[in-house]
Amino acid sequence: MTRPPFAATPLLLVLAVLAAVAALAAAAASGPGGFVVTGRVYCDPCRAGFETNVSSSIPGSTVSVECRHFGGGPERLKAEATTDERGWYKVEIDQDHQEEICEAVLVKSGDPKCSETEQFRDRSRVPLTSNNGLKQNGVRYANPIAFFRKEPLADCGFILQKYDLKDAPETP
Ligand SMILES: *[C@@H]1O[C@H](CO)[C@@H](O)[C@H](O)[C@H]1NC(C)=O
Repeated sequence: MTRPPFAATPLLLVLAVLAAVAALAAAAASGPGGFVVTGRVYCDPCRAGFETNVSSSIPGSTVSVECRHFGGGPERLKAEATTDERGWYKVEIDQDHQEEICEAVLVKSGDPKCSETEQFRDRSRVPLTSNNGLKQNGVRYANPIAFFRKEPLADCGFILQKYDLKDAPETP
């Protein structure tokens, strides 16, 4: 039994439809309501909770953007991206997320020596709605998020002491 030549047609049709859907999705991502969440991932070798002169960006790290409704409930969105050679990631979000809490969350470090996370410090909130008065042309900057070294560097005590002295006068 040989198949008639037109048996290939349904497959071609499916491929054409898939291509059209992909094109539409790409257009939607760059259209109104689309956001780019961007931010930097760095290593905090002293577990300071802020950047010091020994912190450095971590390329090749995975970050996800996760959204949940204010009232709790299941995750509504999850999209991932990897940091570039300067430690910056860009996650494209194709819709408005009003009434949702969205966060950029560390997933995996690009540096095995600096790959620990701490609960609540492994994330940064980003508003993903165009109705909050922010005019940032679809780009939302998340605060830098840090991975920690398991063993702090030997001179961390000394370094942090310097930062404490600098910060001492009336830190808000
Ligand atoms: C960081 O700052 C400390 C304290 O000021 C200094 O002793 C150290 O050499 C600096 N380290 C680097 C890598 O710049």
